Amino acid sequence: MNLNPFGMNSLPSQSALETAGSGAAQIAQLFYVMVAGAVVIWAVVIGLAVYALWRPGRHDPRSTRLLVIGGGAVMPTVVLTGLLFYGLSFLPELQRPAPEGSQVIDVSGARFWWRVAYRLPDGRSVEAANEIHLPAGEAVEFKLTSEDVIHSFWIPSLGGKVDMIPSRENRLKLHPQVPGRYRGVCAEFCGASHAHMAFDVVVHPRERFDRVLAELAQPATPPEDPQTRAGQAAFLSLGCGACHQIRGTQAAGRLGPDLTHFGSRLSIGAGELRNTPENLRHWITRTHDIKPGVEMPAFENLEADELEALVAYLEHLR
Ligand code: CUA
Repeated sequence: MNLNPFGMNSLPSQSALETAGSGAAQIAQLFYVMVAGAVVIWAVVIGLAVYALWRPGRHDPRSTRLLVIGGGAVMPTVVLTGLLFYGLSFLPELQRPAPEGSQVIDVSGARFWWRVAYRLPDGRSVEAANEIHLPAGEAVEFKLTSEDVIHSFWIPSLGGKVDMIPSRENRLKLHPQVPGRYRGVCAEFCGASHAHMAFDVVVHPRERFDRVLAELAQPATPPEDPQTRAGQAAFLSLGCGACHQIRGTQAAGRLGPDLTHFGSRLSIGAGELRNTPENLRHWITRTHDIKPGVEMPAFENLEADELEALVAYLEHLR
């Protein structure tokens, strides 16, 4: 099944002003109100400056004092207090957890990728990485933590950012509304590849989301021809399974991203490269050139047919 019907060929733009969720819409509204307020205040200040230049000489001391106190103390106090309470009025909704029965997703940041686990109603959880699928039109509760340093989880089109802190669980509620593909990023400097720590977000209509989740819960497709069989054998003999998990095989590593449905993902290396066999070949042989500071070693000395088999095997994991 093709898990990602949206925009396979284009990178989604990342803008907090192109909103597709209620949290982001509130932030955008706050931004526009602040900008409008700033424009009005700027116009008044410039107007006064022009007036002072236009009418030089002595001004009436009483009205000057009133202007300084009124414009310098009273007005900023009133305006800033108003904006403060306007901003605070958004908080109660953000703090209210998603309703009972909403999808809960655990995400932890690691240098430089994202571990994602969807909680199922029966208590199990389905692990994936670097790509998050969401249902449109309902609230989703995220539980956020980190495996090493502080990262920050941010999907600009859907809502605000929340820090991911080691040995602490922060929460975030998002309410995506428009199906489509969006870009998420790490918003806290975390090391050499901080700027290469992104993820894809795909928002589906509910019934499609259910099918995607059921698909993700399945173990990996077994290899079905000599090349993918050779690829699986190479994956296991090279020791990839020490770090990566592929459910349904002996590969059960926990240090790196789960690869059970790697072939269906939109990108490689946490939003770094589009997921094509060509790019995967580059990734496996030149990880450090593509992503400085990445934990995965570059496999530079693979035989050509071994590399081909490995790429074919990983891409068939749909
Ligand atoms: Cu993770 Cu910046």
